[in-house]
Amino acid sequence: MNKPTDVARTVTDATPIKVPTLPDAQTVTAVEHYTDRLFSFRVTRPQSLRFRSGEFVMIGLMGEPDPKTGKQKPLLRAYSIASPSWDEELEFYSIKVPDGPLTSRLQHIQPGEQIILRPKPVGTLVHDALIPGKRIWFFATGTGFAPFASLLREPQTYEDYDEVIITHTCREAGELTYGRNLIEALKDDELLNEVIGEGFWKKIKYYPTTTREESPKMGRITDLMNSGECFEDLEVPVLNPETDRAMICGNLAFNLELKAMLESYGLEEGANSKPAHYVVEKAFLD
Ligand SMILES: Cc1cc2nc3c(=O)[nH]c(=O)nc-3n(C[C@H](O)[C@H](O)[C@H](O)COP(=O)(O)OP(=O)(O)OC[C@H]3O[C@@H](n4cnc5c(N)ncnc54)[C@H](O)[C@@H]3O)c2cc1C
Ligand SMILES: NC(=O)c1ccc[n+]([C@@H]2O[C@H](COP(=O)([O-])OP(=O)(O)OC[C@H]3O[C@@H](n4cnc5c(N)ncnc54)[C@H](OP(=O)(O)O)[C@@H]3O)[C@@H](O)[C@H]2O)c1
Repeated sequence: MNKPTDVARTVTDATPIKVPTLPDAQTVTAVEHYTDRLFSFRVTRPQSLRFRSGEFVMIGLMGEPDPKTGKQKPLLRAYSIASPSWDEELEFYSIKVPDGPLTSRLQHIQPGEQIILRPKPVGTLVHDALIPGKRIWFFATGTGFAPFASLLREPQTYEDYDEVIITHTCREAGELTYGRNLIEALKDDELLNEVIGEGFWKKIKYYPTTTREESPKMGRITDLMNSGECFEDLEVPVLNPETDRAMICGNLAFNLELKAMLESYGLEEGANSKPAHYVVEKAFLD
């Protein structure tokens, strides 16, 4: 039987009462799959969530019940927010690890379903950690593209720099689709063209490369830089601390190799507390 308060609500309130079934629950609004290993999805954004483009949060699903106690704990992983700080929703770009505790389940998520999102954004890939320069380089492998999906749609990127170079190295050509589509869409993005300035996207130089499947540009970005081919293709000089700033996001070996290369060009690592020439973040833990 209804309690009196329930009856009153039924009569006076026409809107359904949303009962969150998860702590910090957000609702999935869209899902897109690119390959058998990659997908992206969008979720509602908590009204109170403020973040800087390039930061990451912890997201996940409720874990399976403990066989002894029956209790469920959230299963959370770090994810770069792929949408820019001004977006009404949040976007994520994800790997599907077949036996991964989270992504073996997350890959099946559908619009209308809920995920857990801990609203505490952090990260080093932010403009605040860099001192002013002429040109910014975004270096990504695999899902390391995600923070740059945010920064490429962030007006400050184009206010701070004359040129924006994004390199993306993947094993296979299909793994470039999310990034390529996103960059193509910037040309027709009426809002960004109005807010940042008509034709802002002309500042972008996109340099996609593959290592294990044929594509127009083959090879690891590190090798293409060491040989000089990358700089010739892009018609820019080798990076130097006077003009160039960089953000790196990829697997551990890639991050370390590129970090050493940037140091050899004379760039120094920055941080939120001490801005400098480049910043680096892991795309996943090995
Ligand atoms: C700062 C940070 C930001 C991250 N941002 C993202 C993101 O935006 N998108 C994303 O998909 N993942 C991201 N990750 C990785 C993410 O936290 C999880 O590892 C991933 O979702 C897999 O979770 P899982 O529980 O299925 O498997 P896990 O047990 O977490 O991973 C299993 C194994 O899969 C491999 N692996 C995990 N993640 C990746 C990946 N992204 N690409 C290639 N191999 C991987 C690793 O070898 C790992 O040991 C990020 C990690 C860190 C530390
Ligand atoms: N991508 C796939 O098709 C695939 C399929 C099945 C399983 N997996 C597994 O998934 C995990 C992650 O695979 P992933 O392809 O997403 O990420 P990844 O192994 O980090 O590779 C992504 C890209 O980065 C390049 N790279 C790796 N180390 C580098 C370095 N030190 N310097 C410069 N470039 C570097 C790779 O080139 P190289 O190719 O030269 O290494 C590749 O093009 C791996 O454990 C893998 O075994 C991947």
